[in-house]
Amino acid sequence: MSSVISGPGEPLRGVAKVPPDKSISHRSVIFGAIADGVTTVSNLLEGEDVLATIAAFRSMGVTIEGPDAGNVIINGVGRNGLEAAGCALNLGNSGTSMRLLSGLLAGQTFGSRLTGDASLQRRPMTRVVDPLTKMGARIDAVDGLPPLDIQGPADLHAIEYRLPMASAQVKSALLLAGLYASGRTTVIEPTQTRDHTERMLAGFAGATWAPAAPLKIDSQVVLSGQVLAIPGDISSAAFLLVAATLRQNSDVLLPGVGVNPTRSAVLEILRLMGADIEISQERQESSELVCDIRVRSAALQGIDVPPEFVANAIDEFPVIAIAAAGASGITRIRAASELRVKESDRIAAMVQGLTQLGIETVEYPDGMDIRGGHFTSGSVDSFGDHRIAMAFAMAGCIAAGPVEISDANNVRTSFPNFVSLMNSVGLNLEECP
Ligand code: S3P
Repeated sequence: MSSVISGPGEPLRGVAKVPPDKSISHRSVIFGAIADGVTTVSNLLEGEDVLATIAAFRSMGVTIEGPDAGNVIINGVGRNGLEAAGCALNLGNSGTSMRLLSGLLAGQTFGSRLTGDASLQRRPMTRVVDPLTKMGARIDAVDGLPPLDIQGPADLHAIEYRLPMASAQVKSALLLAGLYASGRTTVIEPTQTRDHTERMLAGFAGATWAPAAPLKIDSQVVLSGQVLAIPGDISSAAFLLVAATLRQNSDVLLPGVGVNPTRSAVLEILRLMGADIEISQERQESSELVCDIRVRSAALQGIDVPPEFVANAIDEFPVIAIAAAGASGITRIRAASELRVKESDRIAAMVQGLTQLGIETVEYPDGMDIRGGHFTSGSVDSFGDHRIAMAFAMAGCIAAGPVEISDANNVRTSFPNFVSLMNSVGLNLEECP
């Protein structure tokens, strides 16, 4: 689909099973590949980003069966069993694949070249190259951008590293490199980011996961194949949470969504704004907290988003901005400059699109102010960013007329059945080739 037209739909009603979590899906493939023995994964996300991670490991000699209806069997080659790929590893649009693999591959006996699409080639890699170089890796990246040329063989040593920014990708890259470094690698975060890597690492190491700060990793860790089930992606659920809140008379149930506390701040933010969100059936699956979420329409008020929620809702700000536009009063988002280095500059993209749809905004280096109002009909550019495209598709259900979102192909990276799932609960989306 090159664009999506979102028209005024029905109230949202019914049950929607959101796609599997992208972050956890990537990690299941990575750890499964380097573990001893077989890892079976159910409910893996079959989005393009995760398929890129699977393709990369296949190129490095790992036999992976599937995905078949979300089921994957990974025949782990063991921590030293990866082989040099015969060509560059093309990671498409996926920053998670590139950053996590840079850490893993920095510790191998062979060299690798990591590349990706035009968006990925604009994303900053100095944040991983610098600490990995301190560990003894040799990585060439012109101007700190992809492609990354990782030289082998590596002789890594442990470091203690204080992350200059809140980034689970950088943290995870260093933990993966730490598996191949002599000594004990220590990572200190400025604020806690999503901890899926730590939880999964503990599971593959046969240990009980317990939160720790600072994080420490030894090269002695033995990883064994696991049986994993991936929860629904809270980042994908967020689109429905906002659309159902804004569209009157809506009532939607989202079963099996991951609500790891380091990921679920969008729930706190929307509740602070007045959303009616009910959690039930909380349970633990493959070391992750999972629940069913019921959301009903509610009137929202603007808020100052508490800065301590920013890192744990970082991917949800495009759709939080849509919620803010449908709220009364002003919502202020600050301390969120990381939004400028995502798949697009998400502050600039949201400010531009909201303005085009008649919403008053003020842009700041680290955020934006949004004054609640009424969406007009109009066209917006998603800048090739899946989350910008999906966020503006939610605006269509309460706009004065259709909203057209261009450059929406990358929705497939994280939410392959976006249009059909959204329409099944009452939205009115049309794909345009
Ligand atoms: C991710 C971490 C976040 C997030 C991205 C997925 C991960 O990126 O935005 O979509 O899976 O670790 P940063 O680490 O750059 O914040």
